[in-house]
Amino acid sequence: MSRELETFEGSHPRSKVIHEQAEEALLYGVPMNWMTRWPGSFPVFFEEAKGNRLTDVDGNRLIDFCLGDTGAMTGHSPEPTVAAASRRLARGITTMLPSEDAVPLGLEMKRRFGLDQWQFSLSASDANRFSIRLCREVTGRDKVLVFNHCYHGSVDETVARLLDGEPAYRIGNIGPPVPIGQTTRVVEFNDFEGLERELAHGDVACVLMEPALTNIGIVLPEPGYLERVRELTREQGTILIIDETHTFCCGPGGYTAAHGLEPDMITIGKPIAGGIPTGAYGMTGEMAGRVLEKTVWEAADVGGVGGTLAGNALSMAAARATLEEVLTDDAFEHMIEMGIRFELGVQSVIDDADLAWTVTRLGCRAEYMLGAERPKSGQAASDAFDVPLDALLHLYMLNRGILMTPFHMMALMCPDTRPEDVDAHTAALAEAAAELTEA
Ligand SMILES: Cc1ncc(COP(=O)(O)O)c(C=O)c1O
Repeated sequence: MSRELETFEGSHPRSKVIHEQAEEALLYGVPMNWMTRWPGSFPVFFEEAKGNRLTDVDGNRLIDFCLGDTGAMTGHSPEPTVAAASRRLARGITTMLPSEDAVPLGLEMKRRFGLDQWQFSLSASDANRFSIRLCREVTGRDKVLVFNHCYHGSVDETVARLLDGEPAYRIGNIGPPVPIGQTTRVVEFNDFEGLERELAHGDVACVLMEPALTNIGIVLPEPGYLERVRELTREQGTILIIDETHTFCCGPGGYTAAHGLEPDMITIGKPIAGGIPTGAYGMTGEMAGRVLEKTVWEAADVGGVGGTLAGNALSMAAARATLEEVLTDDAFEHMIEMGIRFELGVQSVIDDADLAWTVTRLGCRAEYMLGAERPKSGQAASDAFDVPLDALLHLYMLNRGILMTPFHMMALMCPDTRPEDVDAHTAALAEAAAELTEA
């Protein structure tokens, strides 16, 4: 680690100076606190990013597998999105009136994800927040059920974990508004009996879930689990929201379309407008009817679901172009092919070095984790984390021109990812494995 830190400092002098200047005016020396959560003694400031390449202020060029933690799953600044957004930038960005791009965009969301009616927000967090409110409103129930070690954005009800079988705050939860048990029930992913027990209370408005956990490594659903979740939520009158923000990596209609799920609602954000802030939430016709019935028109602008800039013309233009021309069926085919190549590359390193690690792929996303067995729950995935080793691997990769997603060893492929980029990662990992296993 000391050797890698020395290499890092030697190759990032300008980032160091900028960070010192930033500390004069920016809390933590960055515009958003989590930007400090990279390996190395200070954050790397970037100059330019295009496709799957990123150049930092010191001129270091990186192959980007982080892709803005999915915000840039399109590749950075994709031409069609840039062209459509540029046209819109020059002709009015936000007006409070709908723009025509919203119509084909809505129809495309419906075609891809199979839900009838759509609304737009500025982020996936907002899409989740608004969906939870709607579920509470239409069911008259006050609780939300989430899964241990889930992440759904900065949404109060979801910053929760399981502690001795009870809902507790996640470590680091900042200023929680009320005791979490008042708003939230938490169960382990893949624990069907736990879900049955918690839903039996009859007070859960919605289950908010990723169909596979992606924020604590990747935890895949056991065969039949999601079908049983669907059956049970229907039986209990609980609305099922599938958060596709990350699992969009599974194909043009996310995990939902790829696996024939039947949620009542879907939430999404991050890459749908190629990185221009946009979130979306969709619902079945039946759910839409319930929402319309409860809507108080005179107060629709101040009811807690909204945002002045939500649905703005720039977001609509960018999202339309991104879906129609960037994240196409062909693009996904290529991205998933690269995901498979990445997975096979990592598996070959694991096998050759005889590491007790696993690699798990979800469409064009892949993750390697410690432990000989693939975790089946958020807790098992969390237990397998080794913070110092994780930091070392991130820094090791960065020093060899490869940017991995911070917080865990996750890699995402975009339309610009080439086989040689994937192979460069495999080679760097093999080098790390050889050093780590040196007798
Ligand atoms: C599954 C999931 N949902 C929602 C969000 C929130 O996205 P945003 O921070 O863009 O609002 C995230 C962020 O990582 C996420 O992983």
